[in-house]
Amino acid sequence: MKISMKTNKVKRGLVVWYSQTGNTQRIGKLIAATWKKAGIKADSGDYRDLGKINPADYDVIVAGSPVYYYEVPKNFREWINGISSIEGTPVASFVTFGGEGGNQHNTGYSILEMLSRKGGVPAGMGLFGSMSSYALTWSAGNGARVLKYKDQPNDNAYSNVRHYASCIIQSISEGKVYKVSSEFNLRDYLKGGIAIGPTKLMITGHGVNRDKCIGCGTCNKVCPVNAISPDKGVVDTSRCILCLGCVNNCPAQAVDMKFMGKKVYGFNEFLKRNNVVIREPKELANV
Ligand SMILES: Cc1cc2nc3c(=O)[nH]c(=O)nc-3n(C[C@H](O)[C@H](O)[C@H](O)COP(=O)(O)O)c2cc1C
Repeated sequence: MKISMKTNKVKRGLVVWYSQTGNTQRIGKLIAATWKKAGIKADSGDYRDLGKINPADYDVIVAGSPVYYYEVPKNFREWINGISSIEGTPVASFVTFGGEGGNQHNTGYSILEMLSRKGGVPAGMGLFGSMSSYALTWSAGNGARVLKYKDQPNDNAYSNVRHYASCIIQSISEGKVYKVSSEFNLRDYLKGGIAIGPTKLMITGHGVNRDKCIGCGTCNKVCPVNAISPDKGVVDTSRCILCLGCVNNCPAQAVDMKFMGKKVYGFNEFLKRNNVVIREPKELANV
């Protein structure tokens, strides 16, 4: 691993994320806003919306992801693994997650490791808790487990994000390489990688209800693996990575899915039913 940074002065940074229900996006936007306030030109966005960029053009790259099934979602791994060389570029990672456990540390580490393999030099890693948007939890009747975190992220969490954004820049100015290693946890080790397989077996009736579909194309846009044909009412379940983005984002609740025989409903509907409004950081309010 190369250990010297190509620059100690950050003029231009990239914050890139993958986000299905806004938690990771919110943190990514706050990092970018914090940098902008410090006079850094910050480009930011979901990797699916960034258009043509050259990651090597940036003085720092921060990549953020939700934890899915104990690891970095496959589609985001593929995106990172597909970028061109970023030799000597300072890099940092962050993850958002819901609740305790769930291999969050190793997920953040994994992003850093992938960026390092591209030539990036680690400058930080941040883990930020939020409400889980794993729709199977509440749909199976365990909503209380998710609601325990309904106040997250709070003002304190947002202060930590701003602090993290500043620390990355500070570390780079000092040429300080961030040192971190993976942590072994037997439970996470056993669950990681296999969790999605058995879960998929418990899903039935995954498709688009054409009577309810309003033809807005949201499911197509959010599906990271192009598995949905709303006009035919069909989801290619062999391609599906069970990110639940379609169920969580359909504004008409037209995506059908059953988990252990129970109808799965999305994050926005769950928030509405429980009168939960996620608090925005002041920089992003009314944006
Ligand atoms: C498909 C799926 C799998 C998840 N798996 C985990 C997990 O293994 N560990 C964890 O801590 N949180 C897990 N979560 C919770 C998400 O990490 C959390 O909701 C995240 O903040 C969502 O980010 P987003 O709103 O940017 O999409 C999962 C959520 C989804 C939708």
